[in-house]
Amino acid sequence: MCGIVGYVGQRPCSELLLGGLERLEHRGYDSAGVALLAADSTALRVRAVGGIAQLRETLQRHPQRAALRTARTGIGHTRWATHGRVSEDNAHPLTDDRGRVQIVLNGIVENHAELRARLIAEGAAFASETDAEVVAHLVARALDHDGLAEAVRRSLATLRGHFAFVVASPEQPDTLVGTRRACPLVIGHGEGERYLGSALVGLPDALTGAQALDDDEVATLEADAVRVLDRGGRPARTRRLALGARIEQATLGTHESFTLAEIAEQPRALRRTLRAAPSGPGLDELPWVQLCAARRLTIVACGTSYHAGLVGRLLLERWAGLRVEVDIASEWRYRDPAIAPGDLVLGITQSGETADTIGALRTARASGANVLALTNVPGSQVTREASAVLLTDAGAEVGVAATKTFVTQVALLAALARQLGIARGTLPDAEAERLGDELQRLPAVAEAARAAAEQPIARAAERWGRAPFFLFLGRHVGLPVALEGALKLKEIAYIPSDAYAAGEMKHGPIALLGEGTPVVCVATQSPVLDKLRSNVAEVRARGAHVLAIATEGAAGVIADEADELVLVPPTDPLLSPIPAVVPLQLLAHAISSARGLDPDRPRNLAKTVTVE
Ligand code: F6R
Repeated sequence: MCGIVGYVGQRPCSELLLGGLERLEHRGYDSAGVALLAADSTALRVRAVGGIAQLRETLQRHPQRAALRTARTGIGHTRWATHGRVSEDNAHPLTDDRGRVQIVLNGIVENHAELRARLIAEGAAFASETDAEVVAHLVARALDHDGLAEAVRRSLATLRGHFAFVVASPEQPDTLVGTRRACPLVIGHGEGERYLGSALVGLPDALTGAQALDDDEVATLEADAVRVLDRGGRPARTRRLALGARIEQATLGTHESFTLAEIAEQPRALRRTLRAAPSGPGLDELPWVQLCAARRLTIVACGTSYHAGLVGRLLLERWAGLRVEVDIASEWRYRDPAIAPGDLVLGITQSGETADTIGALRTARASGANVLALTNVPGSQVTREASAVLLTDAGAEVGVAATKTFVTQVALLAALARQLGIARGTLPDAEAERLGDELQRLPAVAEAARAAAEQPIARAAERWGRAPFFLFLGRHVGLPVALEGALKLKEIAYIPSDAYAAGEMKHGPIALLGEGTPVVCVATQSPVLDKLRSNVAEVRARGAHVLAIATEGAAGVIADEADELVLVPPTDPLLSPIPAVVPLQLLAHAISSARGLDPDRPRNLAKTVTVE
């Protein structure tokens, strides 16, 4: 969360910084700002509430816009508010009370309250409600004795939390200093110029090289040189990043939103992800000896990735005979999960940066577990935490709500489960072959699901789009899909919704149902379809209106119970989440659009959740 960029070099940099912030805007869009060091070594700071478009407008109207345009050192920030409401005062860059440093920070300074109290007692005057401002004051004070890099290194020792920050000072106008702890920060090299950024995607295309910083390393950048010191002040060896590993930004095409473009792109994303099937990309790299010998696997993830993990559990249990536990990363890491040396822990995170998932994997590794990662972003933080990495190839997902990354995660988990089933001898040859064919058919199945859903979903959105509440029901493999459908509706259409295991409904949530309450039932083929039919009848008997997602040729009694029926093409029942989620994504999008909302940038959310 929050995107940061920095530039030092020979070119005017305001446009370079704005371009970088635009590419990082999915990390937060509450406010944005830049600080530029002008030729006369004064720092010019411009901030605006809203996104980069608002910042651009403010810059264009700025009385010192000419000086701003010529600056050759600068930093920028796009904010997702953690401490302090959304306001210009709380927008970054932040500065100390003597204007000696400008800083942009991503993450959280956990001991900010005690540091603030101490600094105030020493006479500091604070201008924002943020946790990050303490860093500006600390670094500025350390500048009394040290240069900028040493001031940052000293300040770092007093900070607790997880963060990355970049500092510029008019006292050293040709230098930028950056550091990180558990939040990402990368260095980019160009001809006579250097960059810092939260992710490679925020840096320009024409880089000649890139490096990743490790925890508590401090990088000093000048136009022609980079020096990195470890926390003890000794020269550090940084890791090179492969520039080819960058994933492309999507284009909108003729679609009304990126979210809709990405829903439409799912068949291609699946095809790319499965192109090396039946083994699947990255599967060859896995520690097969440990996987085959393993008695259990723990999956940790957040949000939509957690829902993919729930599908993965069913796949791995059924096809590979593996005992699988799935947990929300932010819960699991603070429990006592009794992980032992040799246990397998898989983190699923499309961004590869989610703080809680990474924290959970670190906990697992510290207990001696074998750590695996499944992500969509090559070179992301999670790829550095894991001993083996599975890569989906969904391309960059611009819409904040996950769509194509979910289906590719499920497909890759299925490829893994199948391969593991073969290796462990739990899948007979003929069954393995049939499932291999089913995996290959998934792109076509997803495409057909979208075509079949468009009209009934448009009718459903028209009919129920103003409902104050939706209930989603599913059982077995339908439950993660129901959870995902409800999450999408909350996220992009802001409609309160709940998802429940259909068999559990009568233990409470059935009390929510009244005449005309919309209930979405994920009733695709599953081993418990008959049981689900009874649950749907119970819902109808209470006057609820049913939108059923069912499998073509197997809709049976569900069709009679449904007020609106969406048929999706058949596939193996455990792969049905891929076609079944498509109508639910479209439903959330259609309602969001009808309510005049921006589905790509839902309020309060960010694409990359780097705070715990
Ligand atoms: C939902 C959504 C979020 C993410 C969650 C985890 O549409 O996008 O719930 O799934 O923040 O993100 P990753 O997968 O990047 O760890």
